[in-house]
Amino acid sequence: MTAAGRAKSAVKSGAKRLLERAGFHLVRSTTPRGGVNDFIPFEPTMRAARAAGLSVGDYIDEVMNGTPGATQSTVDELRTLGVFAAEPDTVLEIGPGSGRYLEKTLKECSPGRYEIYETAAPWASYLVETFGVVARPVTGFSLDATPDNSVDLVQAHKVFNTLTFLGSCRYFFEMARVTRPGGWIVFDVMTETCLDPEAMRVWATKGGAGHDSFPAAMPLRACVDLFGTLGCTLEAGFPAPLGVASTEVLVFRKTA
Ligand SMILES: C[S@@+](CC[C@H](N)C(=O)[O-])C[C@H]1O[C@@H](n2cnc3c(N)ncnc32)[C@H](O)[C@@H]1O
Repeated sequence: MTAAGRAKSAVKSGAKRLLERAGFHLVRSTTPRGGVNDFIPFEPTMRAARAAGLSVGDYIDEVMNGTPGATQSTVDELRTLGVFAAEPDTVLEIGPGSGRYLEKTLKECSPGRYEIYETAAPWASYLVETFGVVARPVTGFSLDATPDNSVDLVQAHKVFNTLTFLGSCRYFFEMARVTRPGGWIVFDVMTETCLDPEAMRVWATKGGAGHDSFPAAMPLRACVDLFGTLGCTLEAGFPAPLGVASTEVLVFRKTA
């Protein structure tokens, strides 16, 4: 191989590693690459996790994303903020994927009902079978199988940086609708806090070619103002790693 060929190949494998850290196309698969709603391939990921002797969530954190303990540290932060203090009886999660946050949430509380809205069918079935959660049909960014004011904790992790702006907006309205007064809404977004010039340079040069809508940014102020009009107040925000950079986890409480 020529020097130019070697350099090109090094750039390619570097970009692949970075993409993998973001949770995309991490395992060699015969499944054709789909859109953002397919998530990573189920069977090869499970096999690789088993071979590594790790739960699939820890495998994604440690091996695929290179950020050991990242999921637990977000959950620890949520505990410190009091999100689990009132023992949520109903939890709803959008896009749980492998269930890495779901599994750790279930170590913090024992809800009577845990609903998921997940587009990747094999992962949704696995979560239903393994954790006894209830999978709701995904229809156009709505949570229409869930009644108003019925959920104590609504969460989504690493989802709204993959969806289009409109998809996320539509889910935001729905999250506020289904949360009961006093309940919590937790999600991460790639806000301006995560987008200083250096972070933008890193995304632009090392982010690689992900799904079309990844990574999607969302202004913090827009979120705070929108949820404010929906009776929800921002209680806290903290950073969480995402691929080559980070997102900001926002913690809202519905007051009205
Ligand atoms: C980057 S993954 C994050 C998965 C998981 N929350 C995590 O942090 O490991 C995004 C997840 O959202 C799911 N997803 C994509 N579009 C969706 C939609 N419209 N509604 C619900 N889930 C969706 C994908 O299948 C995938 O599981």
